[in-house]
Amino acid sequence: MTTSDTTTTAPAQSPALAARAVVVVAAGSGTRLGLGTAKAFVPVAGELMLARALRTLFTLAEPTIVVVVAPADRVDECRALVAAVAGAAVAYTAVVPGGADRHASVQAGLAALPDSVATVLVHDAARCLTPASQFERVFAAVVEHADGDAAVGSVGGDGADAGASVVGVGVGVGVVPALPVTDTVKRVAGDAVVETVDRSALVGVQTPQGFPLAGLRRAYALAAQAETDDAGVFHAAGGTVLTVPGDADAFKITTAWDLGRAEAVVAERAGTAAGPAAAAGSTAAVDVRVGLGIDMHAFDPAVPCRVGMLDFPGEPGLSGHSDGDAVAHAICDALLSAGGLGDIGGRFGTSDPRFAGAAGDVFVRGAVDLLRDAGLVPVRVTVQVVGNRPRIGSRRVEMQDALATAVGAPVAVSGTTTDGLGATGRGDGLAAIATAVVRAV
Ligand code: CTP
Ligand code: MG
Repeated sequence: MTTSDTTTTAPAQSPALAARAVVVVAAGSGTRLGLGTAKAFVPVAGELMLARALRTLFTLAEPTIVVVVAPADRVDECRALVAAVAGAAVAYTAVVPGGADRHASVQAGLAALPDSVATVLVHDAARCLTPASQFERVFAAVVEHADGDAAVGSVGGDGADAGASVVGVGVGVGVVPALPVTDTVKRVAGDAVVETVDRSALVGVQTPQGFPLAGLRRAYALAAQAETDDAGVFHAAGGTVLTVPGDADAFKITTAWDLGRAEAVVAERAGTAAGPAAAAGSTAAVDVRVGLGIDMHAFDPAVPCRVGMLDFPGEPGLSGHSDGDAVAHAICDALLSAGGLGDIGGRFGTSDPRFAGAAGDVFVRGAVDLLRDAGLVPVRVTVQVVGNRPRIGSRRVEMQDALATAVGAPVAVSGTTTDGLGATGRGDGLAAIATAVVRAV
């Protein structure tokens, strides 16, 4: 059934006979991650998010058709990635372009499936660490309830809904992996708390979410409004949805913080899978380098204030040949230092008119380009802003996102004053100190 151009040895069983499938939606733009690239193509500890998500799928025991919904402008790239990860199972795969929102992307994926498929799971590529056991658990529950016997324990459903499922979306039930809510949950109006919500009746749901294919297709065809997940679409069409236990590792990577969490999970898995000695060995096998950068600029009230690639209206600016963004310059130096590539003055000197008044991202992107030429990519950057003003606390996340977009990897920002001591304490200027970790491609 493959729509991939790749030819390969035919598998023993025809894909046309496979009764189960997974649609992996990977067409989102990753706006909240803020790296300026489609999220599925962002590396997590050195392996693209989509490749990680797919690798798990190709370990499933039963033949499973895999449809990947890709960003419309990256379909060919996605086909190559799928072929590389799938190996001989490529004949069971298809790659189709996605739509403007997740709803449209899921519909595109469902349309690509052969009618032989009885059970379909819809999965977010952004939940790339979901273990294989979760896919098996959801498949098993959908198959178990395929006879339509589904009145107990439904999410948001009652007996009437269960009856309606036969009329609305057909026999069978949907299944979602769910975890209890651990935070205390409040209903609010604006910033005022209205009441505490009883969390014992609440769960957080993940993917993959599983359904009878015919029922889910009908539910999407009937959908009058976008829902935030597939179970919402199925339920709105009268289907019953049951829960199975979820898994903490199936969290969705949405923000830079989530990406850091995913990298920590991967590191931890490497450590526990083979023991501490082997973990140390595997770290040594990866070519990782660390760099350091410091910069300081004096205040100049006559120029606009730009720090960490953000504008701070009303604050005194920083003097310098460029825009004086000490934070961006420290990061640039840390990146160059990690690659053994010299420093900002040597690489982007003040004698070069291209850098007069240049914005901080010119230097950071320039350092990333030089690293790439040297076969290196940034993995992580931290930067501390040292000074009395501007106060960065309320704009820390915004600054992290702006810097991460230029670096192409997560950036952590912190700030401190120096208790009235030294040049920064006197308010003469602003300093920044940065570290960067880069690795060989
Ligand atoms: N998705 C998709 N097509 C879209 C939007 C989202 O296939 N038009 C997919 C994403 O690739 C992701 C999943 O739906 O795997 C969940 O969406 P989300 O986490 O919101 O990802 P993005 O839309 O990429 O992120 P953001 O909302 O921050 O832009
Ligand atoms: Mg989105």
